[in-house]
Amino acid sequence: MTTARDINFDVAPQAEELREAMVAELRDLGAIQSEQVAAAIGTVPRHLFAPGKPLEKAYAANSAVVTKRDENGVAISSLSATHIQAVMLEQAQIEPGMRVLEIGSGGYNAALIAELVGTAGQVTSVDIDSDIVTRAKECLAAADYDQVNVVLADAENGVPDRAPFDRVIVTAGAWDIPPAWSDQLTEHGRIIVPFRMRGLTRTVVFERVGDHLVSRDYRLCGFVPMQGSGAHSERRVPLDGDEVVLRVDEELAVDEELAVDAGRLQEALLMPRVMRWSGVEFDQVDELDFWIGTHAPAFGLLTAQDGPIERGLVGPSAKRGVPTLVRGGSFAYRTKRPIEGTETFETGVYAHGPEAEAVAKEYVELLRTWDRDHRRGPGARIEAYPAGTPISILPQGCVVDKQHTRVVISWPRPQAS
Ligand SMILES: C[S@@+](CC[C@H](N)C(=O)[O-])C[C@H]1O[C@@H](n2cnc3c(N)ncnc32)[C@H](O)[C@@H]1O
Repeated sequence: MTTARDINFDVAPQAEELREAMVAELRDLGAIQSEQVAAAIGTVPRHLFAPGKPLEKAYAANSAVVTKRDENGVAISSLSATHIQAVMLEQAQIEPGMRVLEIGSGGYNAALIAELVGTAGQVTSVDIDSDIVTRAKECLAAADYDQVNVVLADAENGVPDRAPFDRVIVTAGAWDIPPAWSDQLTEHGRIIVPFRMRGLTRTVVFERVGDHLVSRDYRLCGFVPMQGSGAHSERRVPLDGDEVVLRVDEELAVDEELAVDAGRLQEALLMPRVMRWSGVEFDQVDELDFWIGTHAPAFGLLTAQDGPIERGLVGPSAKRGVPTLVRGGSFAYRTKRPIEGTETFETGVYAHGPEAEAVAKEYVELLRTWDRDHRRGPGARIEAYPAGTPISILPQGCVVDKQHTRVVISWPRPQAS
């Protein structure tokens, strides 16, 4: 029987070469750790899921292929970069015969999962967008993965007809974990989810322990946001029109003194800034940022466009969103400077406002505590309890309230050697 794969015979040898090179690169980068994931990525013809794109683009390990944009040109669907797909598949530890739910369909990742579960397993992929469902079905058929079941639905409710699942792999940025995802999990199942906490997204592996979920691993990642009933918008506090914005995802503060007040922060930005240095080397920035984000009662990501950075109003660290500690009408964010005679940098702080000195001191103290107690530690432990669980029975840590869950992020100390 002639299949779509055969029709692509003219590009097949070149595609195979590029696929092998991509596997080698992903091994070098540490994204591929196991032979199973290497074999899956080495087998699935990714170019059939990116029709019309140059082969080099389809097989670029680190770039996503956008498949749909909204009316403002913002990407709302893509084939995720193979790098992050490999990382998440390794986190998932999928075994032959498993039943897997993928949330967010591009076709390619579902085909990788189909390779991993084999003929005894079952793959369901759900997407909220009918164009994406149609596209995924067509690409899967073209690549001979008709066994993948692609469903049109809002994943907030999971896919009850196909449950239970040994793995739920979420491929859109989630602000919360709806109960359906844990309810539809087998007893020893895992949820792998790009989870946004205080504006910072990490792909977290969760396992169920009693009535709650506990993290086993997490990695830095970026995904298009969840749509539908699980969508959640952050608050954008303008500090200099749209050019300098403080993005606040969750406000922990009930205390008025800790509330983020746009007017006071706009005035603060116009006051001369205080600069303080920490003596702490600038590295492992993702972990450092997560630490800061989970230790500041009032927190946001300061984000600036090129203009205010070039004018010197805001430091260049704000280009991509920098962790910012807010205290009343003052705020502080991280910056860095080169350490003379080395190729490394030292972390420091810029602070603005009437209490700039105090907020800078507080931030520098956080940088030093992380350096002293956590730089070599096991990282954060993330636990998701049902919403409304009394604080008195929760472990110590940063408590972040979502719609369905009460998330606790704690930082165990390194074991003494
Ligand atoms: C990054 S893409 C998926 C990538 C895909 N897994 C692949 O093979 O590369 C994210 C997808 O999530 C979908 N999505 C967003 N919110 C959703 C929801 N509530 N339920 C189901 N799908 C959703 C989007 O329509 C989009 O197609």
